[in-house]
Amino acid sequence: MKIHSLLSLTVALLAFLSPCLTRLTPRVSFPMGSPGRHLTRFSSHDVSNTTTLLLSEGGDMLYVGARDAVLALDVSRKDAIILRNKLDWSPSEKDLEQCSMKGKKMADCPNFIRVLQFLNTSHIYACGTFAFSPRCTYINSETLTMSIKPDEGRGRCPYDPYQRNTAIIVDGELYTGTVADYRGNRPVISRHLSEGRRFDLKLDDTLGWLEDPTFISSSFIPDEEKIYFFFSEVGREYDFIDKFIVSRVSQICMSDVGGQRTLQRRWTTFAKAQLLCQADNELPYNVIQDIDTLPPAEGAPADDTLFYGIFTSQWSVNSGRSAVCSFRLNDIKSVFSGNYKVLNRDTLQWSTRVQEKVANPGECGLHNATDNALRFVKENFLADDSVRPVGRSLTMVSAEHNYNHLTVQRVQAANNRDYTVLFLLTDSGYLHKAVLLQSGAHIIEEVQVFEQPQPIKSMKLSIPKGLIYVGTSEGVVKVPTANCSFYWTCAQCVLARDPFCGWDPVNRACVEASNTQTSLGQDIDRGNVEETCTSVTLTHRARFGPNKLPAGELVSVSLNEVVRLQCPAASRLSQQLWERPNSRLSSDLYLHLGDGSLSFVATPATLGHYLCLSTENGYQQTMAIYHVKQKSSPMAQTPTSYTWPQTHSITTTQAMARPGPGMHTSVGTWPKGKATRQGETEPTLSSRDTQVITRQLSRNLTQWTKESGQKETKFREGEPLQSARGPCYVKELVVVSVLLVLCLSLLITMLFYVIRQRFHSRTAPQAGTPIIDSDRRTPVEQEAYSENQFLSKRNGKTPHSGQASGLGCNGALTGSNGHLPNMPI
Ligand SMILES: *[C@@H]1O[C@H](CO)[C@@H](O)[C@H](O)[C@H]1NC(C)=O
Ligand SMILES: *[C@@H]1O[C@H](CO)[C@@H](O)[C@H](O)[C@H]1NC(C)=O
Ligand SMILES: *[C@@H]1O[C@H](CO)[C@@H](O)[C@H](O)[C@H]1NC(C)=O
Ligand SMILES: *[C@@H]1O[C@H](CO)[C@@H](O)[C@H](O)[C@H]1NC(C)=O
Repeated sequence: MKIHSLLSLTVALLAFLSPCLTRLTPRVSFPMGSPGRHLTRFSSHDVSNTTTLLLSEGGDMLYVGARDAVLALDVSRKDAIILRNKLDWSPSEKDLEQCSMKGKKMADCPNFIRVLQFLNTSHIYACGTFAFSPRCTYINSETLTMSIKPDEGRGRCPYDPYQRNTAIIVDGELYTGTVADYRGNRPVISRHLSEGRRFDLKLDDTLGWLEDPTFISSSFIPDEEKIYFFFSEVGREYDFIDKFIVSRVSQICMSDVGGQRTLQRRWTTFAKAQLLCQADNELPYNVIQDIDTLPPAEGAPADDTLFYGIFTSQWSVNSGRSAVCSFRLNDIKSVFSGNYKVLNRDTLQWSTRVQEKVANPGECGLHNATDNALRFVKENFLADDSVRPVGRSLTMVSAEHNYNHLTVQRVQAANNRDYTVLFLLTDSGYLHKAVLLQSGAHIIEEVQVFEQPQPIKSMKLSIPKGLIYVGTSEGVVKVPTANCSFYWTCAQCVLARDPFCGWDPVNRACVEASNTQTSLGQDIDRGNVEETCTSVTLTHRARFGPNKLPAGELVSVSLNEVVRLQCPAASRLSQQLWERPNSRLSSDLYLHLGDGSLSFVATPATLGHYLCLSTENGYQQTMAIYHVKQKSSPMAQTPTSYTWPQTHSITTTQAMARPGPGMHTSVGTWPKGKATRQGETEPTLSSRDTQVITRQLSRNLTQWTKESGQKETKFREGEPLQSARGPCYVKELVVVSVLLVLCLSLLITMLFYVIRQRFHSRTAPQAGTPIIDSDRRTPVEQEAYSENQFLSKRNGKTPHSGQASGLGCNGALTGSNGHLPNMPI
């Protein structure tokens, strides 16, 4: 065996043993088309690139900026999105010709709408790239007609449809951050549509105001009368590193009218500061991807406004990871009111200012200030301090998912406490719903919203309607923020830890917490089923009693046959465990397979009852009961169907009594959605399978359709459950023994290596590097891998081989970046 593979295994082990590495696995997964999460979609053959979204005040109308068109979609119906109006707005043949003559790709020359904002109660202001010659227009929001001939769009909209920009209209004035030239190297933050004595304003061309920025977002804070812009740019203050990217927040005052001589028609209130998403002794997550504003809770001061941002890293050690950080408005304000750096124009070096402070940069109301003061403001715009995240730590880190968009909502739970819920979009097209707890982030679920990777996408949350809209080139998708009825037992409802959902003990249903007055069973912080669902506290032992074990599902076997018993997972966070009444499952006789199933050779000693238990968060439930019996006649292969004795009831608890709401849907169609996705090493089952098996338990033991992931054996109604491959058992036995021997020798060698490592080397290898590639797998891994391959193929995805790279740390992080330059941040 190669030394290399042992080494990497040791690393993997060390990574697993590391104290705070918790994996952020969504508890439940809904791949595209899952019945438990029904999505409403709008797409049309003559509409494409539906990526700019604007939601009407009441949330009944969704305006969409698409390619060569603006759409008005009626989203007030629950089950449909209806196209109300469409405005075609495309460049002429001549424009397109010129665009392609200038060397642009024809596919990038149409008019991609990039600005879509309400101007007033009757009109929308829209701008598009218009064949690399941006234009803007006024659109009547009722009739969707263009009312005035198009405006010039320079400085309001990018030329290139792939360039990011931001725009916001406040009091009829348009504030934008975009590039203002064809080549894309004149970035500007500016104000347009100003009237009367107010002038349109822009940034001075002074060196260093913006350094090759990527604009992300802008936010208006009414109490401050300020607009905040978020972007990333080259951090010239760190001139010792080539092209070090920093994330920034910048501000301008709405009252700004520019200076009288100095800074005429230029911002006098522009200031910028670094946003730092970094844990102590870690490399910073320095590249901002998206940010959303969480207004303060009712009654709290505006200073408690929070900004939740997604950040990724410029360095490859952290590639594929993303972090969420939150920043408090108060902290941003105090950084802007502190000291500023100065740029030495000869050496182009930034330093902390030493000369006397003549004015307060970033202060509103400087229009009457002296030239001296304005000159000072013009030179001092980069705050000396950085804005640090709330609690000086990262809110959440995901090692497995590259998040790119988020929205945030405060949700009042049944206990009247507020919880922060994040909706995060992954590059692979899944929407994650995460609740932030004291103990870290908990991902309640993931829902697949698009299939192909999308270069441009956007997301809008409608809090009053409880809906999220995602716009991509595949169309617009409407996702309800929760579907509580998916959880059909109290235990499932509580284990989900979804602040939107609680268990109604009267109607025995998991319901939306905001829709009901009754006191609901819910425990977001701990997810404690035993305390919350008082009627399901019985353990399986108490339920069945030592002598009252029910017969279970009958499995008829011949002696010496290899039996494989399946056990569905209750969720992706549950662990499966097999038990036999009055006897232990010795590892000499039983093989626990990666998918939770149990394999053994039928001998007189192994006949009898088997229970599969699923444990999640300290709560245990029975997922399956089998009775393995010797076939009466070894020749007869007649399928045996076993019916639960009508008199006996294990359905005494809520956990099993109520049939799930989706019971009538065909179970047989489900296993397609059983997802094994990238980064998963074990084939996990989506929780829908639980319903399948629960139904089996609650009704009787018929109709259970279950696909074995590995052998594609189908266990249908009345068929014996184990794989009936009579005479191959010798082979199986040999395989099992070989596996055992291999495992043991591997373990010993590994121990040896760990010890050797300790003595011979001081520098621990990098944890979290992908370790296992196909020719370095142990036989067990190989099996898990091929199983994974199989499931992945069924899902049309290539599996991810980096087992240990799927580990991240939430809350306080410990670093492993010893080899990299330390940032003086
Ligand atoms: C919610 O879940 C139930 C049960 O699985 C399903 O029947 C229903 O269609 C789902 N509703 C939505 C809107 O996804
Ligand atoms: C427009 O959509 C197509 C797919 O339909 C995609 O390939 C292209 O990148 C999109 N362009 C923009 C600018 O979003
Ligand atoms: C909204 O703005 C448009 C364009 O300036 C103007 O024609 C229209 O009268 C305004 N509507 C209202 C209600 O102020
Ligand atoms: C400041 O400027 C405003 C107009 O910009 C003017 O109305 C006001 O009188 C000025 N105040 C002082 C103290 O000069």
